[in-house]
Amino acid sequence: MRIGLGKGLAAVVVAGLVALSAAAQAQQAPIMIKGQPYEYDKDNAQDVMRICAGCHGELGNGGGGGAYPRLGGLNADYLAEQMRKFKSRERENIPMIPFAVDRELSERDVLDVTRYLSEIKLDTKPPANMPADGYARLQIMKKVLQIPREPGDAEAGKAFYAADCGPCHGNKGQGRLKKPALAPQFIPYLKTQVDSFLSGKRQHDDIEIMKARSPEEWKNLWAFLSSLQD
Ligand code: HEC
Ligand code: HEC
Repeated sequence: MRIGLGKGLAAVVVAGLVALSAAAQAQQAPIMIKGQPYEYDKDNAQDVMRICAGCHGELGNGGGGGAYPRLGGLNADYLAEQMRKFKSRERENIPMIPFAVDRELSERDVLDVTRYLSEIKLDTKPPANMPADGYARLQIMKKVLQIPREPGDAEAGKAFYAADCGPCHGNKGQGRLKKPALAPQFIPYLKTQVDSFLSGKRQHDDIEIMKARSPEEWKNLWAFLSSLQD
């Protein structure tokens, strides 16, 4: 996965990183991979991102009508854990099978690309003053993630969400650590996940609280989640 960087330069960069992170490491044990301490390699992350971009977008903004989830700005530990679940097939993901094997994507690649994705900041609205230049506009729009609104009673959905989901996923769907952000995220993607939880294909805590809700209540929940961006 490593392209570019002459060995000399790489050594200087690594030495710099080691010095920079020495203080941090004094407090926190480094992550070890095959006996070597792990250091974030942004160049490698960008190389790996080229594979992911075909489906998830250059900035991890997702798309395909919600077939491909937004990844940009999600928690790095959550993303890495999902990658490991794809690799072990604990979580099924047929489109990603060719990429989610050790030969294609090492643990180092997983840590690099998930950290890179977690540091991307996506906006939910275009800025008020858009540049006139077409190329500049295109670059800005790549960072804008707009979730189509879902029909339903968003107020009722808010009450359902606050009671059952907010305590873990955050009151505005912003997520917390390994409890992923649910907003802004493509609703068709989230619906597929809930179907997988309900059928036992994917694991979720307290599944009974999901089973207890009617289709009408779910519709309202999606209406609420799709309204959180504005
Ligand atoms: C061929 C298309 C494709 C490629 C390439 C691809 N993915 Fe995916 N990815 C998907 C699909 C489809 C899903 C949704 C699966 C589902 O519905 O559960 C997904 C889901 C994910 C998720 C789960 C997100 C969540 O919120 O739980 C992560 C993380 C992820 N991909 C990371 C990556 C990374 C990193 C790469 C590059 C190494 C990559 N993907 C490449 C198609 C792709
Ligand atoms: C006890 C904490 C908890 C509660 C309560 C909770 N969740 Fe979750 N949720 C999680 C965790 C943890 C995950 C990640 C699961 C994994 O690792 O695969 C998750 C994942 C999800 C996902 C998948 C997101 C993605 O990006 O793939 C969806 C959708 C979801 N939850 C919806 C809900 C909804 C809707 C509710 C309320 C009915 C809810 N959750 C309540 C902890 C919680």
